[in-house]
Amino acid sequence: MTGPVLDPRALARQLEGRQLIDGKLVASRSGQTFDVNSPATGELVGKAAAGDAADVAAAVESAAKAQVAWAKVPARQRGKLVAECGRLLDEHKEELSRLVALETGKALRTESRVEAGVLADAFHFYGGLGSELKGETVPFNPDMLTMTIREPIGVVGAIIPWNVPMMLMALKIAPALVAGNTVVVKSAEEAPFAVLRVAELMARILPPGAFNILSGMGPECGGPLVAHPKVGKITFTGSVETGKIIYRAAADKLIPVTLELGGKSPMIVMDDADLDKAVAGAISGMRFTRQGQSCTAASRMYVQKGIHDRFVTALKAKVDAMKMGDPLDETTDIGTIVSRQQYEKVNAYIATGKKEGGTAHECSAMPADAKLAKGLYVRPVIFTGLPKDSKVVREEIFGPVTAVLKFDTFEEALAAANDSEYGLAATIWTKDLKTALDGARRLQAGFVQVNQNLVVQPGLSYGGVKTSGLGKEATLEAMLEHFTTKKTVIINMA
Ligand code: NAI
Ligand code: MG
Repeated sequence: MTGPVLDPRALARQLEGRQLIDGKLVASRSGQTFDVNSPATGELVGKAAAGDAADVAAAVESAAKAQVAWAKVPARQRGKLVAECGRLLDEHKEELSRLVALETGKALRTESRVEAGVLADAFHFYGGLGSELKGETVPFNPDMLTMTIREPIGVVGAIIPWNVPMMLMALKIAPALVAGNTVVVKSAEEAPFAVLRVAELMARILPPGAFNILSGMGPECGGPLVAHPKVGKITFTGSVETGKIIYRAAADKLIPVTLELGGKSPMIVMDDADLDKAVAGAISGMRFTRQGQSCTAASRMYVQKGIHDRFVTALKAKVDAMKMGDPLDETTDIGTIVSRQQYEKVNAYIATGKKEGGTAHECSAMPADAKLAKGLYVRPVIFTGLPKDSKVVREEIFGPVTAVLKFDTFEEALAAANDSEYGLAATIWTKDLKTALDGARRLQAGFVQVNQNLVVQPGLSYGGVKTSGLGKEATLEAMLEHFTTKKTVIINMA
């Protein structure tokens, strides 16, 4: 396994049944595996190792041993090694894109390649921040030289989801490693292979044990990782429900956690907005190309009454023009839902929305290709006319389903947008400066954009308020706050 392997099926077979522990690809201690099927064709992508507590113990022991030496590597040198991983991952960008497209059903051109690009970018970004792990001197007493030192926490456990597995993993492991921690990741059941390949590549550069990755079920593999006495920190991205389980388990050990959870991100479109830009923003914001499988999906669109009908017509036309198809086909815009479980969940929400009195505008056409007949394709749905207490309006669907809601005044839209248990992201579309600033200040969300809808970028603080999470990611501050501890040292010189 040296150069890039561009056939994702061949690459998955090479990685079958393995996890990366202590720098080596090894089978699970129990020998158990589970099937990972392509959501587009139903074919078996590969059998993934079913890690459990015994594998967690081996990985954490390796990480704990490696951490002692890793913390002694000068911080800038650690950064250089992490940046070197970024360079190698960049060289393997195409194979990683193909593999993640195969296992998750995300379209190669519109989604998987974009993810692989941000993956490498996160390593480059954090790789340059080694010398920023600085402390302070404190003017406490002229006879006492007083300073603070940033120290690594030790072994970090990271539990990641399937929707953007490589990128979300990178935003956790790159800062953790640069800060002098070692890491054990538990990948998502639906997407174990691309991240395992990332680990295998990183192991060519990092010392054995610095970075380990396990695959397996949440309770059987993720549970023991959170509970392991030598894991000093957990960083998690996934559902609110699982986030709470992890927070409770972390409380038993009194260890810090970072939680990046769900969302129901509002988009407010005022009458004076540029219609074309707002519609383009709705397409990207709702992540239609990712089948809406995003925690920041703009899944509640509050549109002022004067522009509402034109907005719905233009949005439907644009989504209609998007091609659903084989994720690995270059002409495909929209791939599949990741798993049977998510597929059923999304379809149940569509049925609920119809029962709740909404009008379901179904977009795009199902792929014609017979080999995709068993694929987990869902036609994007734009709901109009739903009541504000509808489940489709209030709950995270994680599918290509958005609700467009008509409003009269800005105050009404703002109140509706903030009337949610979530607070991850929000956007506002207007040409009026006062409305834009007012919205930016008063929207309850961790990431607010005006007249655009970009995805998370290294260097921009990212994370939610309310039940959308605890703590921030993607910045220098995130590395310092979430992957180091601060020690005060006082030297009495009197
Ligand atoms: P999940 O939160 O259950 O899974 C995420 C990760 O947590 C996976 O690696 C899983 O194996 C692990 N996990 C599950 N139970 C665990 C436990 N008891 N202890 C330790 N680790 C555990 O999310 P799932 O089931 O994949 O999706 C359900 C819903 O969650 C989605 O429909 C969506 O609404 C939301 N979600 C949000 C994401 C985000 O980016 N914030 C990502 C994925 C899902
Ligand atoms: Mg779950």
